[in-house]
Amino acid sequence: MNISSSNKISESVTWVGKWTFVLAAAGSAVGLGNIWSFPYKVGEEGGSAFVLIYLGCILLVGLPIMMAEIMIGRYAQHSPVSAMKKAALDSGKTGYWQAVGWTGLVSGVLILSFYSVLAGICINYIGIAAMPSTEITSVEQYAQVTGSPLRLFFWHSIFIGLNIAIIASGVIGGIERMVRLLMPMLFILMVVMLINAMINGDFKAGLNYLFAPDFSKVSSETFLSAMGQAFFSLSLGMGSIMCYGSYMRKSENIFKTSLTVAGLDTLIAILAGLAIFPMIFAYGMEPQQGPGLVFKSLLAIFIEMPLGNLIGPAFFMLLSIAALSSAISLLEPSVAYFEENKIVSRFAAAVILGLLIWFIGIGSVLSLNNWESTFFLGERNFMDSIVYLTFNFLMPLGGMLVAVFAGWFFKPKLAMEELSGAHLNIFKTWRFFIKFISPVLVASVFVYQLTS
Ligand code: TRP
Repeated sequence: MNISSSNKISESVTWVGKWTFVLAAAGSAVGLGNIWSFPYKVGEEGGSAFVLIYLGCILLVGLPIMMAEIMIGRYAQHSPVSAMKKAALDSGKTGYWQAVGWTGLVSGVLILSFYSVLAGICINYIGIAAMPSTEITSVEQYAQVTGSPLRLFFWHSIFIGLNIAIIASGVIGGIERMVRLLMPMLFILMVVMLINAMINGDFKAGLNYLFAPDFSKVSSETFLSAMGQAFFSLSLGMGSIMCYGSYMRKSENIFKTSLTVAGLDTLIAILAGLAIFPMIFAYGMEPQQGPGLVFKSLLAIFIEMPLGNLIGPAFFMLLSIAALSSAISLLEPSVAYFEENKIVSRFAAAVILGLLIWFIGIGSVLSLNNWESTFFLGERNFMDSIVYLTFNFLMPLGGMLVAVFAGWFFKPKLAMEELSGAHLNIFKTWRFFIKFISPVLVASVFVYQLTS
């Protein structure tokens, strides 16, 4: 079937290239999650045990749920809210399943509000890495950046503006070109940084830290954090991938594409860990310092590295673009919803939602600037609260509900049709996982966290 003849969401969005879905989904998945939050969460949770649990989550929870999201999106050919409703009604179930879509829209707005502030820092670092100050250390440099709310606010506004412009013009298909060219470049730079870490870093300490099994540091929080990170990195549990799935051609194989996207995403996260931790140990930095870890250590790496003042800016430029292709996928589901229900035009939806997100983002700007208000989640400030709420609660919850729906409520015949490109055994394995393994694992992590 040709997607352009089907009941698709928007005239302006038609994915025709064979690789477009994979590229767009990979563009969504690969972003700050891999390079900013993966290393800092590894550091916070003490290394290898977290990495192992993370990999387990990708395989046992992430991959089956990614297939489920794509399947529902492609089946229903609508944005997540309406897609959940249609998939439920067509299976003879209540349309209230659309609530899962709504949760996703809320998560998307919340995630993008802090994501944009961090991406703004990346853009700012392009210039900083080109001309690092000789008077201050990378740690002081980070303090200077985050210490200036105006500067954070400026780059946050630029980043949101770029998002609005891209989404408003409906050129999601345009990211195909961007990703096709720039993702391999990012990959090559990361390999260069890996080689640098092998030569100039304490590579053995880095490897040990990331991979030598050490379960002494595992707590219920480790499981929750690894699972949240897996959802975040794969763009799951909020509708990004479901929305992109609705633009996917029927002839594409959902299993293979999911495997490719999850594989690429994981590869890049591991590469980031391997490039960064050996240097952290070589410089005697503390891995356990939270969200600032990566910015501080990356700048230190580029200052020391040969050609660092060329490679550094190039790296931050590519990272900013990777963040942009992820951010677009965070905004698209809600804009698509407004557009499809003819509430307002695509342009107006992009502007209204963009401004809302921009406004909420100001809270994160102030949080980075030592706004020590303990907000709604314990000791955490505003930004950390939103990070915690989305990573450790909203996305796993959204993902779990998608799994429960896909495994227990969606008509097996329809699922079979969507996944028919796959071998029967793959379908059966997927079905077993999505019914019994993925949702149960997510639920147990929740329960374990609550009871310990
Ligand atoms: N996966 C992206 C990253 O790693 C962020 C992202 C995009 C995301 N879309 C999402 C996270 C949907 C959660 C849900 O940077």
